[in-house]
Amino acid sequence: MSTNEYKTILRIDSSLRGDDSISRRLGDNVVERLLRQHPNATVEHVDLAGGMPSIDAAWVAANFTAAEQRSAVQRERLAASDAAVAQLRRADAIVLTTPVYNFSVPAALRDWIDHVCRAGMTFRYTEHGPEGLLADRPVYLVVASGGVELGGPVDFASTYLRQVFRFIGISDVHLVGAERTAADSDAAVAGAMRQLDQRLPAVAGAVA
Ligand SMILES: Cc1cc2nc3c(=O)[nH]c(=O)nc-3n(C[C@H](O)[C@H](O)[C@H](O)COP(=O)(O)O)c2cc1C
Repeated sequence: MSTNEYKTILRIDSSLRGDDSISRRLGDNVVERLLRQHPNATVEHVDLAGGMPSIDAAWVAANFTAAEQRSAVQRERLAASDAAVAQLRRADAIVLTTPVYNFSVPAALRDWIDHVCRAGMTFRYTEHGPEGLLADRPVYLVVASGGVELGGPVDFASTYLRQVFRFIGISDVHLVGAERTAADSDAAVAGAMRQLDQRLPAVAGAVA
């Protein structure tokens, strides 16, 4: 096994549309391509369609309490967040799929972001401003929009997600965009597949 062979691919899906979801179908394709390059990798799957508990006052208080001073209740309150951060840390690559919902991302993905942006764990404050603490790694960011031009002035989804990853130390983000699915979903998917053929060329054409 070469040293840069992936052991773990983390896949996170957030569309509420299940099998009808364009972003999830494209995510399947990305994962398949990665597995052809890294056949021994394990895929860990987080499906946010069922929601993720929002952080609340007790969560914030627990997070702001020094780790060694947290009560058992506080440790329990942070357990899901700790697990989400650990999952991110061990991922060699991340495939994150999302639709654009109301110019941004689905609420459960927003909740997941609250759980993984943890001062002292995934970022820290310095005199020069915040600094990401996670090692860089590839992120395949699959975004489907009904009408919004990805990267355009009202795309607060892909630009937001890029900033979240940058904030925690990850800047190797590859956007795979199926944009304007409402106008022509076949054309949107074909455009995303062309981007994929460029970004994961080693297996271009090998995946249907
Ligand atoms: C609740 C909701 C809000 C949406 N808001 C937007 C939006 O603000 N901008 C946009 O371009 N498309 C919007 N869409 C359309 C979806 O982004 C589009 O249908 C996308 O292809 C869905 O991805 P999926 O097939 O993976 O679920 C919205 C769809 C839903 C269900």
